Amino acid sequence: MTVIRFSDLCAQGRVAGKRVFIRADLNVPQDGDGCITEDTRIRASVACIQMALDAGAAVMVTSHLGRPSEGHFKLSDSLLPVAMRLGELLGRPVPLLANWLGGVPVAPGQVMLLDNCRFNVGEKQNSEALARQMAGLCDIFVHDAFGTAHRAEASTYGIAEYAGVACAGPLLAAEMDAISKALANPARPLVAIVAGSKVSTKLTILRSLADKVDQLIVGGGIANTFMLAAGLNIGKSLAEPDLLGEAKAVIQAMQARGAAVPIPSDVVCAKTFSADAVATVKAATDVADDDLILDIGPVTAAKLAEQLKAAGTIVWNGPVGVFEFAAFEHGTQTLAQAIATSSAFSIAGGGDTLAAIAKYDLAAQIGYISTGGGAFLEVLEGKTLPAFEILARRGEPKAVAVLPSFDAARGVEMLGSDASLRKILKTVASSMSTSLPDITAALHSGDVHKANALLHAIKGYVPIFATDAMVAEVTHVEKLSKTEPLAVVAPLFDQLMPQLDGLLEEIRAFLAQN
Ligand code: 3PG
Ligand code: MG
Repeated sequence: MTVIRFSDLCAQGRVAGKRVFIRADLNVPQDGDGCITEDTRIRASVACIQMALDAGAAVMVTSHLGRPSEGHFKLSDSLLPVAMRLGELLGRPVPLLANWLGGVPVAPGQVMLLDNCRFNVGEKQNSEALARQMAGLCDIFVHDAFGTAHRAEASTYGIAEYAGVACAGPLLAAEMDAISKALANPARPLVAIVAGSKVSTKLTILRSLADKVDQLIVGGGIANTFMLAAGLNIGKSLAEPDLLGEAKAVIQAMQARGAAVPIPSDVVCAKTFSADAVATVKAATDVADDDLILDIGPVTAAKLAEQLKAAGTIVWNGPVGVFEFAAFEHGTQTLAQAIATSSAFSIAGGGDTLAAIAKYDLAAQIGYISTGGGAFLEVLEGKTLPAFEILARRGEPKAVAVLPSFDAARGVEMLGSDASLRKILKTVASSMSTSLPDITAALHSGDVHKANALLHAIKGYVPIFATDAMVAEVTHVEKLSKTEPLAVVAPLFDQLMPQLDGLLEEIRAFLAQN
C-alpha cells in the first residue's frame, strides 16, 4: 500500500505554512452532565495535532460526537467539553468554531477545533458538495480517526478524494501497523478472545479468525451458543439457537487444522440478571433449566489463563462475563491479568474491553490498545476499511496528464507570418532542450534560485505561442519559485515539467512539418 504518511510530509518540510485539516475520532463517552468519562481517544489524537503544530501548519481538527441529526445544532452534541480537554492536554487553549464550512480563520502555529462534523448536512451520506467544501478549507487532509475508519462519510472519505493531499495521521498508521503485526505474521500460538452477547453480530469475525488462530476463546452469549452446539444445557442463558449450525461449522473448521474452541468446563450461574444475584459455580454439565450463565467458572478461567500465558500473540475483543457485577467478574479479571502478565504481543479493542482494562488498571501492560470499536472488528474480519482504500488510492503516484499547449495560430498572429514563427521556434526549441534538463538538475541539487532564473526565461517567450493555460501555469510557478522554499515549489515543478516537455515535443513536431 502506498498510503502517504503525515509524519513523512512533516519530516520533508512540506507542511510548514500549510492549512492542515485533521479528521480525528474524539467521540468519547460522557455522563448525563456532559462530563467526559473516558478520554483515551482524545489523548490518542494529541500526537497528530502536536506534530502538525510543530511542523508550522495552520491546524483545523474536527470529529463527530454521537449521532446528532444533521442540520441541527444541539449543545449536548457539541465538542465543547472535548475542546476543553484537548486544551488541557496540548497546554494551550483550543478555540471551538461553529458553522465553519464558509472558512476557518486559523493561522500557522494555531489550532482550532471545528464543532461536530455530523452537524453538517450530507456528512453521513458522504455528499460530494460537502466533501468538496471541506477539502477547499485545506491544503492537506490528514485522516487520523481510526475509530471512524470503517465509515465512508464526507469528513472521512469524500474529503480525502478532493483535498490536494490526503494522508494517514500517526494514530491511524499505528493502529494499522499494530493490527497487521498481530495478524499478518503473528508469533504463535495466536490466541483470540471474542466475546459479546451475540454470535450474529460477530459471525464474520469468528469465521475469519477460525482460519487464522490456534485458540479461539469465546465468551458471553457467544460462548453460550457454542456450549449449546457442544450439546450442553445452558438453561435460560442468552443464546442464539438458530446459529448452532454456524457455531458447529466454526468448531469443525478449527478442529480440522488442529486448532480449538475451548468449551468451558465450569460456569458461574445465577437465577436472575442482577448485581446482587447469588452466584453459584457449577460444572458445565450441571446447568439447570432456570439458570443464567453469567461468567466462566474458576477451573475454566485458570486453564485459559495458562494458555494465554503461553501464547505468542493475543487478540482480545470482549469480556467473558458480566464483569460489571462483582460476583461475575472473576473470569474476565483472570483473563485480563493473564493477558497483562503474558509475554505475548497483545492487542485489545472495543468499548467493553477498554472498560475492563481500565477497571483492572492494566492498560500499561497491554501491547496495543486500539481506539476502534467497530473499526477494530472490521480490520480483524480482514476487511479493507474505506479510509485505507481511499488513502491508498490517493497515495498512488499519478501519471501527469500532459495537455496540448502549443498554439500555432497565436504565434502566426503575434509574429505576422508562419516563417517568423518557425524562425523563433527554432531558437526556442534549442534553448528549451538544454534549459529543461537544467531546471530538473537545479531542483535536484536544491537550487530553487537557479530553477527560477531558467523558468523566468521561458516565461518571457511562452506567451508568443502557448495556450493561456500554459502561460498562466508558468507564470504561477515562476512567481512562487522566486520566494518560496524547495518544499513548496518542488510539487509545482513536478506538475509543470512534464507539461513543458510536452510543449517542446509539440514545437519539434511543428518544425518537422514543411
Ligand atoms: C465509534 O464510537 O465506534 C466510532 O466513533 C464510530 O461512531 P459511529 O458508530 O457513530 O459511526
Ligand atoms: Mg452526547
